[in-house]
Order: sequence, then C-alpha cells, then structure tokens
Amino acid sequence: MESDLIKIYDAAIKQIEASNSLNDLNQLKSKYLGKKSAVMAFMKKLGQLPQEERPAFGQKLNEYKNKIYQLIADREIKLKELDYKKSLETDTIDLTMPGRTFQRGSLHPISRTMREIEDIFISMGFDVAEGPDVEDEFHNFDALNTPQDHPARDLSDTFYVDKDVLLRTQTSTVQIRVMENHQPPIRIISPGSCYRNENDASHSPMFHQVEALVIDEGVTFVDLRDMLNVFVKRMFGERIESRFRPHFFPFTEPSAEMDIICVKCYGKGCNLCKGSGWLEMGGAGMVDPNVFKIAGIDSEKYTGYAFGLGIDRIAMLKYKIPDMRLLFENDLRFLKQF
Ligand code: PHE
Repeated sequence: MESDLIKIYDAAIKQIEASNSLNDLNQLKSKYLGKKSAVMAFMKKLGQLPQEERPAFGQKLNEYKNKIYQLIADREIKLKELDYKKSLETDTIDLTMPGRTFQRGSLHPISRTMREIEDIFISMGFDVAEGPDVEDEFHNFDALNTPQDHPARDLSDTFYVDKDVLLRTQTSTVQIRVMENHQPPIRIISPGSCYRNENDASHSPMFHQVEALVIDEGVTFVDLRDMLNVFVKRMFGERIESRFRPHFFPFTEPSAEMDIICVKCYGKGCNLCKGSGWLEMGGAGMVDPNVFKIAGIDSEKYTGYAFGLGIDRIAMLKYKIPDMRLLFENDLRFLKQF
C-alpha cells in the first residue's frame, strides 16, 4: 500500500511543479486532497486494515497528505510571485490619458447674491429672519397699514391661494412677524421669494427681496440713509452713489424710493439706465406708527426704519445679466457660467 502512496505522491509532485496558474493548482488540490481524491480513498480503507497495521499506516498517510499540502502551498506562493512580476512587466499606466472629470455644482447667481447681501448685513450686526411664502392677508396687507381698496390687493396683482391666503407679494410680511415676537431693539434682514402677477424682461412672477428692519430708541431717517449708502458701496463699489426720491408706502412714513448711480455709465446715461443715469433699487422709509400699534410696539418710545431691495435686480447688475427670465429658466449653459 505504501508503494501506491509513493506513486501518487510522485505524480502529485510532477503535476504541482508543472502547474502554471492558480486555477490549475486549485484543480490539483481537489484532485489530490479533495473528498474524492485517491489520498482520501486511502483514509477510508484504513478501517479495513488489521488492527495492528492501522497506526503505522495512518501515520504514513498523514505524512504524505501534509507533504502534498506543503507542495501546493509552496507552489501557490511561487505562482503569485510570478503573476505579480508578469503584471509589473505588462500592465502600463498611460500618464497622458485625460483624467476623469468631476461635475461640480455651483451656487445659483441669486443664492450667491443673497449670501453676499447677508454677509454685508451680518457684519453690521443684523440677524437673519424668515417668514412663510404662503401668507395671510393680515401679514401681507392689513398689518402693513394697507387699505382694503388698495390696488395691490387686486387679483391681477396678487396670487390668492384661498380667500384669506396668498403668496406674499413682499418680504415686508416678515417685519410684522418679527415685531409680533420681539420687542426692540430689533435689527434684522429677511431675504426670500415674493410673488406678483406680472411677467416680462424685468419682472418675474416669482422674484426675491431682502427686507431690513431696525427699531430702537432714537432711530432716524439719517440712519436709514446712511445704512443704505454703506450697503450699496460694499455691494457695488466705492464709486456708487445713491439717492432717495419721495414715494409712498402704506407702512412707512415718510417713504422713499432709492436709486443708485448707474453701474454701467456712472450717471452719464446709457441703455441700462435708459438715459437717466440712475437705477432703481427698492423702497424704504420710517416705520409708520400705525404699524407699531398693530404689532404692539410703543411708538412714543421707539422709532424704526425699514427697506426692501430687489435681489434679482442686484444679481443682474452684479453679474451683467440682461434679462430676468434667464435667472429662472435653469438653462445649464447659463448656470454653468457662475
Ligand atoms: N415692500 C416694498 C415693496 O415691495 C418695499 C419696502 C420695504 C418699502 C420696506 C418700504 C419699506 O415695494
């Protein structure tokens, strides 16, 4: 029987040494050591041997089995080494291949402008407040001292969701919400979306405003004027002057509209400012005592100013965007420029 084992072992050595791949080696492993292998068949025969021969043959069998295991393990290391060497010789890295490009997103010009505006006001001690886009008539009109028959309330100007529910037409709604919940001193800005029933190259049914509200003892129109001046210079550059024109808003008294000197022609008159030399920026004024009364703030003790600026307009000037509709079409060829 031992001679049979030796024969098997000799054959195993030859085949294992000659194997050229890990795959071949695996097949040899099951051929010589697997359940159906000749070596295992000997294991089964062990039981049929006379009692006294069993230990010695069992030992021999184990010896050969282990030797074959060792042969296979050694060959495996060898083959892996050979594989590795071969891959070093044949695998090449082409350093001239173009790299994989990553598509990076970027902020929408409106978001960028909003963040820039927020940064400027935050650096001057303002907090950022928010209010809902879907509002009630009270916060959008009544509390802002807007008469029942004011044209802005008309369906042709305002999107109504329900009888008393609408899409806010201005961020001034947030003034009321802040005053309802806080006593002065108040110093907030509130950027966000607004909605009006209009649509052309300079008006979009959804647009953005940033509201500001400052209330404290002794706040004056001069503070308002100064704050806006500082803002436009930080936003558009030191050369930019601003001016106030008398205006009317139901919730401020006195009220004004603010213009800045044309960022393209610096006042000479061009196509951007339609020859006037000035560009409209937004509305402003001192908070009307009626609004204080509705919101529960003592108008004998406190005064305050508010203003609302068009963010889309600022973005268009900042990034030289000629048509407001470009901002909301989400054409990638446009957006990728930012
Ligand atoms: N809410 C006004 C508008 O949309 C702007 C404004 C804000 C005016 C604050 C005065 C004070 O036109």
